[in-house]
Amino acid sequence: MLDQVNAKKLKPQETEDTETTNWLAAGIKSCKKMDGLEAINEMGTELVIWHRDLPPGFNEWITDLSPSCLPHLRIFVSPKDVRLALEPLFDECGLPKVGMRELLIEDIAKLVHAFSEVTGSERVDLRLEHINHDACWRFHIDNVEARLLTTYRGATTEWVHPAYAQQAINEQKFFSGPLERLAIDDVAIFKGKSAASCDGIVHRSPPLKGTGKSRLLLCLNQKSEVSPDPWDNR
Ligand SMILES: [Fe+2]
Repeated sequence: MLDQVNAKKLKPQETEDTETTNWLAAGIKSCKKMDGLEAINEMGTELVIWHRDLPPGFNEWITDLSPSCLPHLRIFVSPKDVRLALEPLFDECGLPKVGMRELLIEDIAKLVHAFSEVTGSERVDLRLEHINHDACWRFHIDNVEARLLTTYRGATTEWVHPAYAQQAINEQKFFSGPLERLAIDDVAIFKGKSAASCDGIVHRSPPLKGTGKSRLLLCLNQKSEVSPDPWDNR
């Protein structure tokens, strides 16, 4: 069920204010349950953010992992095969076989299932990216119908209210307008340029160059011409 709150984690007394109305008018919605992500299919919705918290200890576990064992992979997979596909890939990269790894696999499988339902896709193009450089740091709108993003480790995706979208596109790294950030654990579905009706929400990956920090980003897409072969056909 959708909440009448804006994309930031507002305090309770702020939920009915003018700012909230502005977010909703711009097609930006948020929810507290996963099924609220379905709102991305509504006309005029550009971005839906599911505010959630992963179980205690997960963020600390993944943040403390050596970057050398963080996965970096791409598979085109059906929801039922996510676990089977990820287990050997996680083994390959040396991700420790502990309870938190199970939690990560379960969470990814759950999100792949949700995205397949929301987009009506039999298989999902799953990218789990270990990023330690400036990736997609330019403000942009994706050339997709819909894209799900969540950050498991490191700095989260940044985006701007539509009122500042053109300014952000024009100014890029010199953009000085208000910048929004997903919270850690937030799950967002952005509508992209290929959607039937979409203005899109301008966003970017946070610049990392020179920080020595790394991110672990989950990015789910529908099938495209650059999707890998289906995992189950290998
Ligand atoms: Fe993007």
